[in-house]
Amino acid sequence: MIKTRTFEIAPAGEAPTNIAVHMCGTGPLALLIHGFPLDHRMWLDVMNGPLAARRTLCAIDLRGHGESSGQPSSAEANEAFTMERLADDVAAVIKQLSSDPIDVCGLSMGGYVAFALHARHANLVRSLVLTNTRAAADTDAQRAGRDAGIEMATKQGSSAVADAMLPKLLGNSATAEHQSRIREMIEQVPVATIVADQRGLQQRPDRRPELPHFQTPTMVLVGDQDIITPQAEAEQMAAAIPAAQLSVITGTGHMSPLEDALQWSTAVANLWQ
Ligand code: MLT
Repeated sequence: MIKTRTFEIAPAGEAPTNIAVHMCGTGPLALLIHGFPLDHRMWLDVMNGPLAARRTLCAIDLRGHGESSGQPSSAEANEAFTMERLADDVAAVIKQLSSDPIDVCGLSMGGYVAFALHARHANLVRSLVLTNTRAAADTDAQRAGRDAGIEMATKQGSSAVADAMLPKLLGNSATAEHQSRIREMIEQVPVATIVADQRGLQQRPDRRPELPHFQTPTMVLVGDQDIITPQAEAEQMAAAIPAAQLSVITGTGHMSPLEDALQWSTAVANLWQ
């Protein structure tokens, strides 16, 4: 059974924000960080699977997403949810959850947040699972694409964002249920949050120089049909991190933990023994 806890965090100079964390399972804590523009529900199949016998799985809703507060007052507010800001939120939650370091797992944008958490709060991180994500910063073309995404979200709303993103998120075997679950999540994210995420994603730094210095046990996972963060890039990232394990989740796209939760969880169990 999944229980929801809410943590009040108060970053310096900001109004308090309530961050929702959805928890199930048993054993050491493992924090699951969702991608853009989603929420904790992308992890539900993983949470209902075998990893819950090894870890207390804690799926966070980042600020402005899911059941957490903190969405910007408007899309025009010029706010950016930088990966560092989101990572500081996550750090504040981890400090309330545990006095020991915990396992951290992030998908795509969640992976960028995990990188920032590791860079700023390494003492909170026991191990890292980086799934369907990349270490590189945006290229100029990707930044321009995000500007177009911001315009689409503000002019046409989050349904248009779902229409544009869905064909890129899922591999060939994804079901209608996967499609409708992702669509529901995207359509429920406030436009102001989508805009703040995109601005933060544009600003994220290149993490590649940090990879050879990682001392944290790390696993990199990727879907072999992922066209947003492709397998070749994941392979380079894993090769650059000392002793990182690499797992390719066959038959899946960018949302591998949702598309094939059992195959993904079986791979992660090699790290979370
Ligand atoms: C995500 O899945 O979080 C996003 O596609 C990441 C990105 O746009 O870089």
